[in-house]
Amino acid sequence: MKPFLKWAGGKYRIIDRIRAALPPGNRLIEPFAGSGAVFLNMDYPANLIADSNADLINLFRHVQSGGKDFIEYCQQFFVSENNQADAFYRLREEMNTTSDLQRKAALFIYLNRHCFNGLCRYNGNGGFNVPFGRYAKPLLPVPELLNFWAKSQSAKFEVADFVTTMNRAEPGDVIYCDPPYVPLTATANFADYTKEKFGLQEQQKLADLAGELMDKGISVVISNHDTEFTRSAYAAAKIYTFSVRRSISSDAKNRQNASELLAVFM
Ligand SMILES: C[S@@+](CC[C@H](N)C(=O)[O-])C[C@H]1O[C@@H](n2cnc3c(N)ncnc32)[C@H](O)[C@@H]1O
Repeated sequence: MKPFLKWAGGKYRIIDRIRAALPPGNRLIEPFAGSGAVFLNMDYPANLIADSNADLINLFRHVQSGGKDFIEYCQQFFVSENNQADAFYRLREEMNTTSDLQRKAALFIYLNRHCFNGLCRYNGNGGFNVPFGRYAKPLLPVPELLNFWAKSQSAKFEVADFVTTMNRAEPGDVIYCDPPYVPLTATANFADYTKEKFGLQEQQKLADLAGELMDKGISVVISNHDTEFTRSAYAAAKIYTFSVRRSISSDAKNRQNASELLAVFM
């Protein structure tokens, strides 16, 4: 089941590897939800889906509660007059400032489909700032939205930092963590999903928390690049490595294979 959002670092293409690494449990907890690609493709009886991006979680909640009516409401933004730079920048400004949460949610999907490379990036004031993408005819992904709606009935969506989400785990829960990647090189860091950056300190904190939860009998699986740093941070886990073709890059020629890992704390 494909997610309805384009998302940097989305895991749809390696979903089989993640499924193989996740043990059974009563509830799946995802502290870094992104597009939701992982819970959409698992079959846990319950799902706690969290992310620090409030615009993203607002959208998930509207799809969950509004279903077909909300999807129809979103359709009004997908017209040719809105596929022009001036309309795009006006709607982007509106997404950043409106207090109408339904409109904000619909505009977030509009931006995801009309902005440059489907990126999600914010400036220092928390304003979405990705430029216009110039696609021929962006479409509202209706089948994917309907799938998400059906699947979301077993989910609870929360805006939260990963530490808060992970601390809510109980025995029987399984946690899948997909944090922003650690940089492969000092300059190749993409971690601008929200206005707070995710640095090596946060990466280490996540690894430490995973170890503590494992000691309490809660399984944690973490995705990341395979680097010296991650190997050392995840020393307490069993490591599975593989190579992945990168999906979001501004320069098609620079799309290359990167080594990734799944660290299984259980
Ligand atoms: C690699 S993406 C997750 C992709 C997702 N697994 C998918 O397949 O689409 C990382 C996510 O972490 C979120 N994030 C960044 N910092 C966070 C934090 N401190 N706490 C919780 N979520 C955070 C971002 O908003 C982003 O959606």
